[in-house]
Amino acid sequence: MERNEDGLVRVGILGCGNVGSALVGLLDTNADLITRRSGVRIEVARVAVQNLTKERDVELAAGVLTNDAGSVVSAPDVDVIVEVIGGVEPARSLILTALKAGKPVVTANKELLANVGEELFEVAAASGVDLLFEASVAGGIPLIRPLRESLAGERISRVTGIVNGTTNYVLTRMTEERCSFAAAVAEAQELGYAERDPTADIDGFDAAAKAAIIASIAFGVRVVAGDVSREGITHITADDIAAASELGYVVKLLAVAEEYDGAVSVHVHPAMVPAGHPLASVRGSFNAVFIEGDAVGELMLYGRGAGGGPTASAVLGDLVDAAKNLVEGRKGATIGTLALKPILAIDDVESQFYLMMEVPDRPGVLHAISGVFAEHGVSIRSMQQRERGDDARLIFVTHKAKESDLRATVRALRDVEQVHRVGAVLRVMGEEE
Ligand SMILES: NC(=O)c1ccc[n+]([C@@H]2O[C@H](COP(=O)([O-])OP(=O)(O)OC[C@H]3O[C@@H](n4cnc5c(N)ncnc54)[C@H](OP(=O)(O)O)[C@@H]3O)[C@@H](O)[C@H]2O)c1
Repeated sequence: MERNEDGLVRVGILGCGNVGSALVGLLDTNADLITRRSGVRIEVARVAVQNLTKERDVELAAGVLTNDAGSVVSAPDVDVIVEVIGGVEPARSLILTALKAGKPVVTANKELLANVGEELFEVAAASGVDLLFEASVAGGIPLIRPLRESLAGERISRVTGIVNGTTNYVLTRMTEERCSFAAAVAEAQELGYAERDPTADIDGFDAAAKAAIIASIAFGVRVVAGDVSREGITHITADDIAAASELGYVVKLLAVAEEYDGAVSVHVHPAMVPAGHPLASVRGSFNAVFIEGDAVGELMLYGRGAGGGPTASAVLGDLVDAAKNLVEGRKGATIGTLALKPILAIDDVESQFYLMMEVPDRPGVLHAISGVFAEHGVSIRSMQQRERGDDARLIFVTHKAKESDLRATVRALRDVEQVHRVGAVLRVMGEEE
């Protein structure tokens, strides 16, 4: 390829916010290092933003900045595109145009991939160009490449991730400082970990998009964000966390993708993680992904899942890869064909459950409650009573039960006269001893 004979690759960057500006900074600071390690020189040819008058803390040569993203994609002096705008449109159309024009694309956009990823991968494959997306899941943590390349021959059974730093920060503060959910969210907002509208994080939407991408890569199966069963952390109280801690567990928001009997199940929900499990020690805004495979056993990747610098680091790794491939006239690993496998409804997934309920401490109450569990085929593993008198609290941990049976049990428990309130219902991570 004539334009790459001297190892020069010109990048067009769409978006210059948190990630885009950190990327421009890294490309400048680490220019020599990149060339020494990879043999390519990457030049920032164009950068597209929305608002040209906004002040930016990056230095760009005259004429590089534009508010016409389409012109960046079609520019003849742009060889590779980095998309760090976010959202589905115009990112999708811009990426499709770039791929069809034979330009490799690097993106950090989980929302886009979790919704229309398959369309993009098909066009990338048909055009024979790279579409790389390491930064879209768990920010700075290398996860996609290890899954696609290092573990390409591994039979993966389950991937369990703490993939949302905001919720992990909130739950960590509730655990360690015993503060309320609202106070922990307010603190996360002050520190810039949570958006002014934290819905995408605390209701699990962000983690669900990442879970869909993880499931697609780990199991080669077509999963979109809408296939992911999702539950956030808004109903978790400091009391639940304290009770979990007394039982030897830490509460975390988990994204779980697993495959059994030819079906895939993908869910995001808060869960009680045994205190000795490596995921229990992931504190604050850190992320980690725990992979279980037949030959590799257990593997955990840990680091910063967000932030301009860590995310730009992952984007840069992909960019160097794409640039190298371009110079060498080859294409990197593809994600292969995504199979259509059954997605197991959450109702059919089996877990152990934790349930808390408020009851008066009177004869017959326990009998009535255990009868409801038995009626629905849910067997009790342990029961503890806290406080006495009218405000007693009962804490149950069940043996493995089907989600649908558990939900039916909870509905029936709410109708038991002596049960004042059924509090949080949490899945308990791990196999039964
Ligand atoms: N931030 C993180 O920690 C993180 C972590 C992992 C993944 N990501 C992903 O990385 C991507 C970027 O995130 P970010 O935090 O950098 O977002 P951001 O700070 O909001 O930046 C978005 C950039 O896109 C530009 N933009 C918006 N609409 C545009 C358009 N129509 N044409 C051209 N430019 C446009 C904006 O321009 P103006 O500057 O003029 O407003 C801004 O520079 C998202 O997909 C996000 O999910 C982010």
